[in-house]
Amino acid sequence: MNSYDSDRILESVEKTHSKVNNLEKADVIVFNTCHIREKAAEKMYSEIGKIADLKNKKKSLKLIITGCVAQAEGKAVIKRQPIVDAVVGPQMYHEIPEIIKEKGNTKHLKLDFENNKKFLYLGNNRVRAKLSSFVTIQEGCDKFCSFCVVPFTRGSEFSRSVEDIKKEIYVLGEKGCVEVILLGQNVNAYHGINALKQESNLCDLIEEIEKFKNIKRISYTTSHPRDMTNSLIELHGKSSKLNPYLHLPVQSGSDKILKNMNRKYTAKEYIEIIELLRKRRPDIALSSDFIVGFPGETKSDFRQTINLVKEVGFAQAYSFKYSKRTGTKAVRMNDLVSDQEASDRLQELQQILGLQQKTFNKKFINKNVEVIVKGKGKKNDQYRGTTKWMQSVNFNIAGEIKSEYNLKILNASQSSLLGEVTS
Ligand code: 5AD
Ligand code: SF4
Repeated sequence: MNSYDSDRILESVEKTHSKVNNLEKADVIVFNTCHIREKAAEKMYSEIGKIADLKNKKKSLKLIITGCVAQAEGKAVIKRQPIVDAVVGPQMYHEIPEIIKEKGNTKHLKLDFENNKKFLYLGNNRVRAKLSSFVTIQEGCDKFCSFCVVPFTRGSEFSRSVEDIKKEIYVLGEKGCVEVILLGQNVNAYHGINALKQESNLCDLIEEIEKFKNIKRISYTTSHPRDMTNSLIELHGKSSKLNPYLHLPVQSGSDKILKNMNRKYTAKEYIEIIELLRKRRPDIALSSDFIVGFPGETKSDFRQTINLVKEVGFAQAYSFKYSKRTGTKAVRMNDLVSDQEASDRLQELQQILGLQQKTFNKKFINKNVEVIVKGKGKKNDQYRGTTKWMQSVNFNIAGEIKSEYNLKILNASQSSLLGEVTS
């Protein structure tokens, strides 16, 4: 979502500013920050420190901090680093063009949660499209998992209207986008209003987007298991454009830990969702998030996570050591897991997940796949594309570069595939 937000910030100042690839040339520097795990704030302060010289040399240079660290730290940022001109929360970045226009050296604090306003200000007339573009359809979260800062930094759940989203995706399609990745902290809790002022869910929205002829692929992320409705599962079986890919964070395989995390599902319920999905779409690539070393996680709880992983078989996954976040419920929990133990568990988990990813990728050897080009590949003369299953494929192109290719897969590793162009 920060990637989408950064694009929108850049587009919002497009009339007066353009991107430079050298900090020395910048009139404005915007740091868009993430606060999901600790050390983010320290990283931000160290980055600010690195440009202090630049700022002292060029007094007119504006330094703006946005994103979730800005929201969480607020005016403490300016107190600690007076060279910062503005601290702007993730729901207020539509104010950045005005802040930039101002000539004086007033300090700005923009930390309200007016998320519907942000989209009204930004509008939906996108300036630039990528072949695969992100579009935020929902923001914020009311779930309050006990480890997570998102409800405090992104605010409560908000869904954009169907018409607003459709206009943005139509414009992106006209400008060359062929794949759209619908974003939300709780994307499958989407409940926006349609043109008839009725509430629409994520299935209704996807069915609307499918009607755009320029859009060939649709994905959505990140989902919560509790909002994985039967109709959404069914849609994976019948949609012609929905990618056979789903990122569905489970976090843990232990019911005790899931309860303490306030996830509101059991490991069995998670597995049942996976079984239903696989019935509808047998080739679906499943991805997940895991937290190890959550307070109170015993060796036996961790074994249950490993068992769940072995039972499901993931195509890819993200896993993290539990990180203490101020303001969340988990901070007050006892029975902390030592850092060494958490590291050992993380290593064991990642090894199994890595092997599963490799197994998933190896199944594609000798198969033909379609890819969308995403940029330069691993080696100098290679390009990189992604499949419908969200795998990266490296391949060589002779002559003119196109946006889509049919490839035959020659080899596969854990992180990528190697292909050759067939047409
Ligand atoms: N510690 C570790 N990982 C976390 N995540 C969210 N909060 C924390 C935390 N405090 C992980 C979860 C989530 C992903 C985006 O980040 O797995 O799904
Ligand atoms: Fe955080 Fe996701 Fe839980 Fe919301 S559902 S509190 S965003 S982990």
